[in-house]
Amino acid sequence: MAGVGWAKVAILVLLSSALCSARELKVTVKHKEHPEFNHTLARTLVEYASAVYMSDTTELFTWTCTRCNDLTEGFEMIELIIDVKRCLQAFVGVADDLNAFVIAFRGTQEKSLQNWVEDLYWKQLDIDYPGIDNAMVHHGFYTAYHNTTLRPGILSALERGKELFGDLKIMVTGHSMGGAMAAFCALDLVVNTGAKDVQVVTFGQPRIGNAAFASYYSQMVPYTFRITHEHDIVPHLPPYYQHFPQKTYRHFPREIWLYNLGFGSLVYTVERVCDGSGEDPDCSRGVPGNSILDHLVYYGVQMGCPGAESSCKIIMDPKTAAYRTADLEGNLVFSRIPSTKILRKNSESGDQVDVM
Ligand SMILES: *[C@@H]1O[C@H](CO)[C@@H](O)[C@H](O)[C@H]1NC(C)=O
Ligand SMILES: *[C@@H]1O[C@H](CO)[C@@H](O)[C@H](O)[C@H]1NC(C)=O
Repeated sequence: MAGVGWAKVAILVLLSSALCSARELKVTVKHKEHPEFNHTLARTLVEYASAVYMSDTTELFTWTCTRCNDLTEGFEMIELIIDVKRCLQAFVGVADDLNAFVIAFRGTQEKSLQNWVEDLYWKQLDIDYPGIDNAMVHHGFYTAYHNTTLRPGILSALERGKELFGDLKIMVTGHSMGGAMAAFCALDLVVNTGAKDVQVVTFGQPRIGNAAFASYYSQMVPYTFRITHEHDIVPHLPPYYQHFPQKTYRHFPREIWLYNLGFGSLVYTVERVCDGSGEDPDCSRGVPGNSILDHLVYYGVQMGCPGAESSCKIIMDPKTAAYRTADLEGNLVFSRIPSTKILRKNSESGDQVDVM
């Protein structure tokens, strides 16, 4: 049913771009040089960004959780990493249908999303991004990826994955603060590990750095789509002050803004491909960011923690104990070797031969 709705949206979008003014034409020509936005891919990755919130580590690790199906069916976990002290969670695995590694980061697990959001109003650009003149970023987001057990866990999982499957594409995703970490991770993979084909799709991601950082980021990771939804408040934070362009946070491109069009029973969601500035005034910046509810649903998929549980909780059962290692701080890493079905498919001299 949702599929029919989306087909209509595609038609609407096509119609509106055909009927539009010279300004639209300019935008259309402009993104010829840029990667094309892929709706199917975004729709798939949102399900990974949603699943990584699940707190039952056994179900998540074995990809049997309630959010581990639909477009992500057949995904195989390589590593699930939990930074217990800081309440962070991420996974690395391989997706058969995407023929890619997928990395997903969980957003904040703070009890009150409201408090987390309010804090974001006051966050300073408080750390230099290493090696890049004038580039400054948000210390908390930066360190959540760079200075925790997540980074080493992800890098080692990718190493193991590459030994098994070769150099597949890497797709990095996350929602909210998880989107911020996804961006830092992707940049790290490109710059520090020489990864060639890294694609990023984030959902409801806050700003993470200043203009110099945004410009560097978008050169290094051009295949990046930052999806925003209606009045979601988080992409508006930390604030962007138009009159102090060098001093404030600034989003990197390319935003895709989801908004509703129509009235009553004829409401369709439109995916607007925004301009290359990162701060397109005709996208989410053109409306007030005043909704937490819009932050919690992307493409109709529930983001954040399921139900009422919103504190940092870990549910484990003894079956996965054999896959688990813990470090001195009590952080957990679950590792496994994906099944040979996918392995065989990709290991034969790069040929796409399906072995069922
Ligand atoms: C979009 O992504 C889907 C799945 O992720 C893929 O099968 C398809 O080929 C992509 N389309 C284009 C035009 O790249
Ligand atoms: C990373 O963590 C260590 C130890 O907790 C700390 O000393 C260091 O200052 C942190 N680095 C950054 C950039 O925050």
